[in-house]
Amino acid sequence: MQSIKNKEEIYTKCIKSINNISSKDKLKTISSLLFDSFENWIFCGFYFKKDNQLVIGDYKSLKIPCSPIDMNGVCGTAMLKNEILNIPNVNKFPGHIVCDSNSKSELCIPFNIQSTNFVLDIDSNKLDDFDELDCKFLTEIIKNL
Ligand code: SME
Repeated sequence: MQSIKNKEEIYTKCIKSINNISSKDKLKTISSLLFDSFENWIFCGFYFKKDNQLVIGDYKSLKIPCSPIDMNGVCGTAMLKNEILNIPNVNKFPGHIVCDSNSKSELCIPFNIQSTNFVLDIDSNKLDDFDELDCKFLTEIIKNL
């Protein structure tokens, strides 16, 4: 199991690598690098808003993610409220959209690039896998985009 210290080390290492990549490949590299760094993650990717739905952008995942998805799931709710949603048990979230039935917990962070609304979405096969540290480091990664 990853300890708290270990999680900080992982993010710090990822952020160093992310700071060294060109802007063109940034979202692709971020999703891939983060996905490969956490053993319980089964999806890490970016959705963006188009015609009142969310469309998949860059991602790394065990399965092909669903797209487009409606705005009433975890991702759409995070975007509409413009706040981070940390869902410890996805089965208890009304409207949760199941893309992979192995997903147990989910973290969704909304942000904008110019006038496009994005969310960084992460699914884990472990219940209650996300905490303040994830929110802190992921927010730091996103704020430089
Ligand atoms: N569970 C999300 C859908 C996206 S996937 O998890 C990759 C939601 O409820 O919006």
